Amino acid sequence: MPTADDFTVTPYAVEGDIDYDRLLETFGADALTPEQKARFPTPTHPLVRRDVFYAERDVDPFLDAANDGLRHSIVTGRGPSGPMHIGHVFPFYFAKYLQDQTDALVYIPFSDDEKYFLKDKPIAEVSDYTRENLLDVLAVGFDPEKTRIVIDTADADVVYPLATAFGKEVTQSTVDATYGEPENIGLSFYPAVQATHLLLPQLVEGRHPTLVPIAVDQDPHVRVCRDIAAKQRYDVNKPGALLSKFLPSLAGPGKMSSSADAPSILLSDDRETVFEKIRTHAFSGGQTSLDAHREQGGNPEIDVSYLFLYYFFEESDERVERLAREYRDGELLSGELKEIAAEKIADFLDTHHARREQLGPLEAELEPYRLTQTERRAARKRVGYPDDALVQQ
Ligand code: TRP
Repeated sequence: MPTADDFTVTPYAVEGDIDYDRLLETFGADALTPEQKARFPTPTHPLVRRDVFYAERDVDPFLDAANDGLRHSIVTGRGPSGPMHIGHVFPFYFAKYLQDQTDALVYIPFSDDEKYFLKDKPIAEVSDYTRENLLDVLAVGFDPEKTRIVIDTADADVVYPLATAFGKEVTQSTVDATYGEPENIGLSFYPAVQATHLLLPQLVEGRHPTLVPIAVDQDPHVRVCRDIAAKQRYDVNKPGALLSKFLPSLAGPGKMSSSADAPSILLSDDRETVFEKIRTHAFSGGQTSLDAHREQGGNPEIDVSYLFLYYFFEESDERVERLAREYRDGELLSGELKEIAAEKIADFLDTHHARREQLGPLEAELEPYRLTQTERRAARKRVGYPDDALVQQ
C-alpha cells in the first residue's frame, strides 16, 4: 500500500496522493510565478489565474514572442485510448483561447501508435477512438489556417523520418531511467515520436518558441525532447512546457481516470447523465447530516463539485469565491453545490455537442488541418532528408 506521501507520476502510471510541489523538485520544473501569470493575455485564463497550470519550463521566451507579435506555437496532443472525458479537453480549449488571443500556431498530434503499444486493445479499436476523438477536437473550433492536426500512423511520411532522426539521440538507459523499463520496444521508441510532435512546429516553420500546455505526467516526454533539442544538431529551441494539475475524478481529488471506480464525465454525456453522475458519485466535502453541515460547514478544497467549478467551469472569480464562502459557512448545502456544478458542466457540454453536430464527414473536416506537401517536405528536409526521398505524394 502506498503511504500518504507515496506517489508515482509518469506518462504511463499516475498513482497515490500527488504532492504537486514535490513533483516539481523531482522533475526539475519551476512553479509559475505571479509575474509570468501577469504576462499571459488578459483577462488571464482561469486555468492560469487559479494555478491549475501551476508550473513551467521556458515559458518566458514563449510569452515574449506572444507579446511581441512574433511567431510562437503550442503543441498539445491526444492519445486516443478511449472516449474523451472533461479532464482531457481543457488543454484544447486553453490552446484555442491562446490562439484567439495571440494568433498562436497550434499543433495537435494524435498518438495512436502510443496507445496501441500501451493498452490491450486491437488496432481497429484505437482507430475508432482516433476518429471519435478527432471530432471532439475539431468541435473546439480551431482556426484551420493556424492549426495542424497530425496522426502518427496516418502521417507516417513525416512522423517516421523525424522520429528516426530523434530516436538516434536517445539511449535505452535514458528511456529506462525516465519512464521505468518499457513493456515493449514500441514504447521504448515512442519518446522519439513524442519528441517529433513537440519539435514539429519548428521543423515546419523554422526556429521559434513553442509551449506545451499539458498535464504534469507528460513532463518526462518534454524532458527527453528538450535534451534532444539541446544537442543543437537541429536548428530548434528547446520546447517550453506549461504543466497542469489533474482535474479531480468524481471519486475525489486526484487524476480523473477512465478506468477508476467512479465513472468519469464523458464529452458525449447528455444533461441527464451529467446530473446523475454528479449526484451519485461526486465526492463531497460536506458534513454527513444537515444539522452538522449548517453548524460546521463544508470543505470546498476536497469537494469535487466545487473543484470542477474552480478548475474550469466557473469563470467568475467572484462567484467561485462566494460559493466557497457559503459552503464553508454551512449556508450552501452539498446537494445544492452539486446541482450548480452539474448545470455548468451540462451547459458547457451542450455547446460542445452543438458544435460537434455541425461538423460534416471527418475526412472533409480534417482536410484543412492537415500538413501541406510543402510543410511535410520542409520538416523532412530540416532533419536531412533529400527532396527526392521516395515518399508518396
Ligand atoms: N502522450 C499523450 C497522452 O498520453 C498524448 C500526446 C501525444 C501529446 N503527443 C503529444 C500531448 C504532444 C501533448 C503534446 O495523452
